[in-house]
Amino acid sequence: MSTFTLTRQLPEDATYAALRADVWTGLTAHPKWLPPKWFYDARGSELFEEITRLPEYYPARAERAVLCRESSAIAAETGARTLVELGSGSSEKTRLLIDALRAAGTLTDYVPVDVSGSALQRAGRVLHADYPGLTVHALVADFTVRLDLPPTAGPRLVAFLGSTIGNLLPTERAAFLSSLRATLRPGDALLLGTDLVKDEQLLVAAYNDASGVTADFNKNVLAVVHRELGADFDPDDFDHVAVWNREQEWIEMRLRARTALTGTIPAVGLAVRFAEGEELRTEVSAKFREPGLRSELADAGLKLTHWWTDSEGRFALSLAQPDS
Ligand code: SAH
Ligand code: TRP
Repeated sequence: MSTFTLTRQLPEDATYAALRADVWTGLTAHPKWLPPKWFYDARGSELFEEITRLPEYYPARAERAVLCRESSAIAAETGARTLVELGSGSSEKTRLLIDALRAAGTLTDYVPVDVSGSALQRAGRVLHADYPGLTVHALVADFTVRLDLPPTAGPRLVAFLGSTIGNLLPTERAAFLSSLRATLRPGDALLLGTDLVKDEQLLVAAYNDASGVTADFNKNVLAVVHRELGADFDPDDFDHVAVWNREQEWIEMRLRARTALTGTIPAVGLAVRFAEGEELRTEVSAKFREPGLRSELADAGLKLTHWWTDSEGRFALSLAQPDS
């Protein structure tokens, strides 16, 4: 018997309150910014799936190639009985891990965690049908807030794929890794997917595709603010911008006002003015190098034990374990 349960750890009104607080903080700041988790309503999750199929978006294919090659080694190394996945989205690539852990005979429970309830529902239906005997506990939760994991069997493997860790700012990343470390027990492991520093043109193209899907995804945050908070920004008044920040080694996604404009956001009582050309930062996507990541993990009490990249060295999967 396989079972599927979906638990909402984020009450609807908490989400609404958090969105209002973030919009207030970010749109009254200089420069203006918004946290990336607000991209992912049902439409945003679909657009992201489309991004993963774009010719320019190499990270999805490169990560899949490493998972294909290494998933049996990961299964053997971890012996995981529970697979927890942060920001699981469609759980599409995760199937490689699930297959390997099932083949090794250890996996009994899968715990996908995402802010997008619609993505969890959809993924859950498919997994439920395809993996008899697997217990799926989906959690609608924010992984930057303390995680309350169900009491499943150990050892646990926590997968955090898609280079989503790069969407956290360095201080948020350090806090996230420390708090994750605190929830791990001896024998548990972290499997982390990180995109790597490389040629600027390849990087920028991955976030500024020719067909404009990424632009639609970026602008979707305005649709969320419109729907949830009654804002009257017109997405067509903004251009999608992706730039490589060489000092920080991250891609910055921005929305640039085409003309001077003022938008109102009734639910927070704000009128927000943009000058012509003014930009709103919607996301960073940090790119990594092995020594830097090793030391960030060490600072959080995690020891990097394996580092695997695709054949072109574009994307890395690392395995780390609590260091004591
Ligand atoms: N792991 C998938 C999806 C990556 S996209 C892949 O590699 O293809 C990032 C995912 O993280 C989205 O599904 C988004 O809804 C989720 N997400 C973003 N911020 C989050 C947060 N703070 N807490 C939980 N999930 C989050
Ligand atoms: N985790 C993904 C990344 O940083 C998220 C992402 C891909 C994204 N393309 C995007 C976020 C475009 C905003 C806009 O690669």
